[in-house]
Amino acid sequence: MPGGQDMLQAGQWSCVAGVTLSADTLSVSAPASGYNTVIDTTGPVLQAQGDFSVLATLSDPGTTGSFLTMVGTLNTGSLFWTGLKRLDVGLSNNGIVANYWTGSSANPTSQAYSLPPGASDPINLEVARIGSQIVVFVNGSQAGSFADPGLFASGQVYFGFNVAPGNTLNVLALAAAMPAGSNVSLSTSDLQVAHRTGSGLRDLAAGSGLLIGAAADAPYFTDPNYVQKLGGEYNLIVPENDLKFAETEPALNQFSFCAADQLLSFAQANSMKMRGHNLVWAQNLPSWITGGKYSSGQTYSILQDHINAVVGHYKGKLVDWDVVNEALSNSAPYGLDQTSYWYTQLGGSYLDTAFQLAHAADPNAKLFYNDYGGEGLGGKSDAIYALVQGMIGRGVPINGVGLEMHLTLQGAPGASDISANMARLGALGLEVHVSEMDVRLAVGANGSASAADLASQAALYQSVLSACVANSNCTAFLTWGFTDLYSWIPSSFPGFGAGLLFDQQYNPKPAYTSVSAALRPAGAAAQPVINPDGIVIHAGVSAAVSPGSLADIYGTNLASAQATAPGAPLPTMLGNVQVMVNGTLAPLYYVSASQVDFQIPYSVAPGPALVRVTSNGIAGGSAGITVQQAAPSILTYVDGSGSTRAVAQNQDYTINSSTSCAAPGSYLTVYLMGSGPLNNAILSGAAAPASPLSQETLSTTATLGTTQGITQGTTQGTTQANVAFAGMAPGFVGLMQLDLQAPNLSGDFPLQIQVGTFVSNQALLCVGK
Ligand code: XIL
Repeated sequence: MPGGQDMLQAGQWSCVAGVTLSADTLSVSAPASGYNTVIDTTGPVLQAQGDFSVLATLSDPGTTGSFLTMVGTLNTGSLFWTGLKRLDVGLSNNGIVANYWTGSSANPTSQAYSLPPGASDPINLEVARIGSQIVVFVNGSQAGSFADPGLFASGQVYFGFNVAPGNTLNVLALAAAMPAGSNVSLSTSDLQVAHRTGSGLRDLAAGSGLLIGAAADAPYFTDPNYVQKLGGEYNLIVPENDLKFAETEPALNQFSFCAADQLLSFAQANSMKMRGHNLVWAQNLPSWITGGKYSSGQTYSILQDHINAVVGHYKGKLVDWDVVNEALSNSAPYGLDQTSYWYTQLGGSYLDTAFQLAHAADPNAKLFYNDYGGEGLGGKSDAIYALVQGMIGRGVPINGVGLEMHLTLQGAPGASDISANMARLGALGLEVHVSEMDVRLAVGANGSASAADLASQAALYQSVLSACVANSNCTAFLTWGFTDLYSWIPSSFPGFGAGLLFDQQYNPKPAYTSVSAALRPAGAAAQPVINPDGIVIHAGVSAAVSPGSLADIYGTNLASAQATAPGAPLPTMLGNVQVMVNGTLAPLYYVSASQVDFQIPYSVAPGPALVRVTSNGIAGGSAGITVQQAAPSILTYVDGSGSTRAVAQNQDYTINSSTSCAAPGSYLTVYLMGSGPLNNAILSGAAAPASPLSQETLSTTATLGTTQGITQGTTQGTTQANVAFAGMAPGFVGLMQLDLQAPNLSGDFPLQIQVGTFVSNQALLCVGK
């Protein structure tokens, strides 16, 4: 199909429960008890502004009620149909049925069409939006049409299937067709990148290196608020459930990494790290294992295969693993929980075994023992200490302890006990993570807590985080979720809720404010200020700046200490300072209290742009600049007689001056700031490569002479020099190089460079003398 895009293999169907995807067939089965409706919210997603057409080849041995489902807007409320814009088209009762929902009723509007004569299984179904009509074709001929009530006005189409009880629908093909001239594109995954404010928790913590994390679940990525807060505030993700045993090995030796892979992709796209949680736990075991009546030898093999497969799949990609979770009993004398499946099958040695297997599978991942109720000092905490101390003594590869920190206001351990516990684990050489913090509060029917409890909760969060900040071996602080909208608390502890930093509407709670205060380094609370006209471009030579150029910011409170970048690639955080240009982090090469030098990221589009400095996590106001496709300005120096001359290197390696001129016909190199777009794209912050050369794509000309002209015999005017190369100077960041051939002139002439339509300053160049 011309312009068609396969959506079967390109999609993420294996992530969807109830769907199996073989080499060329996607199968969806429904139990005898009811319909099975699956919607793949992770992709493919069709971005459709105009006409589009979707083709599906359906094989439906059951013949009743199997549909292709296309969703324009996912449901927005608790009922499946609230806000839902959905169209189902498929086979039903030996005909074609189209059902659509418009978001205000459980009952769809239904249309029935006849199958064309001779149609037999499988059928080729085509659903097209043509202008304001939805048209259904079967095996190439039109079966019927209806007026589109704006089902896909969102501009997106998610796909799924709806299968009648007891049926299995086989989908042999699924594709989107894009007629010429229509604006249809297909993204195979709905990967989202959060806008960074520069003052999120992750930014506040960045200077100290403490990671700020939250438990996350991939299905919520369809909620834009979820994406913004998760990516904007945190730099560490832990899958709340997706790496647990039942999720990763739903059947013996059948592994599924789909959901956790999505979380990892999100983490990578948002410059976040990801923890692994967890490999060995008494809970969340699939019934095939607990009911499997395996011998201890078989259980050992299952454990080994599981760890090898799961840790191996993420080798080099996760920063750490909770290898064993909650192995200790929760009441005195707090020994190993002997009722755990793993203990009954393998005895107490399973812990050492698991750590050794995990270490072999990914030697660079840090390995943690994770537990609850032992965060402060006391019996459980002593038991955790003794457990990990014993492991270290036996040479078991363990790097840290996760302190879960699921707290209540009444039973919370004191901050000094938490700190002492962190310190004694540190003395064993172990890191600690606050791995799952929440503080559950008594809530009313609508899930809201009292103002007094919210204030106590804020104080508790602050004291726990402060204990972590005070102990250098506390390297990560994670909460178990981040919005009260999605939290395990209400279902696990009825009557409780509101345990996290953001409320159900994603508003920051008092606990958010107290956590951000605890992250702010003392004495660094001043807001950075950019001076009026404090952004200086090309040493003031140019009013506009091009992507890739270097620029300076002058102001106050910019950094608490001076720092120079170690070299390319330039970092985006230097001396606790960040610069954002239109929300994109800029590479930095120098910071001090009064000056920050940075590169305009290549991705910033021409037009007005806002520059904002964030220092120690505190964002300053923004200042405007103008970004222009190219803004060439010749680097200059002032010579002994006060003339402004081009920084240029002659062919004999001397610097061009009034007494060291370029011979006519020889080559010389001139340096400029302000390249425009490049045909060999350079990453922001990276030096231009020596090979392949990054050439300027706009035409570049070099002219000698001004309106006063060059006197050549009787002719007055300007002379163009041959341009042998124009592009980024190899090995430099943001520096443009021009190789010219000196024309046949004699004297000092003003040189001017034009890149595209953009004209540079003038600087003297000596030729021929
Ligand atoms: C919980 C999840 O939050 C729930 O969604 C799931 O149903 C059960 O597990 N300690 C842990 C976590 O180590 O894995 C648990 O997560 C919460 C307690």
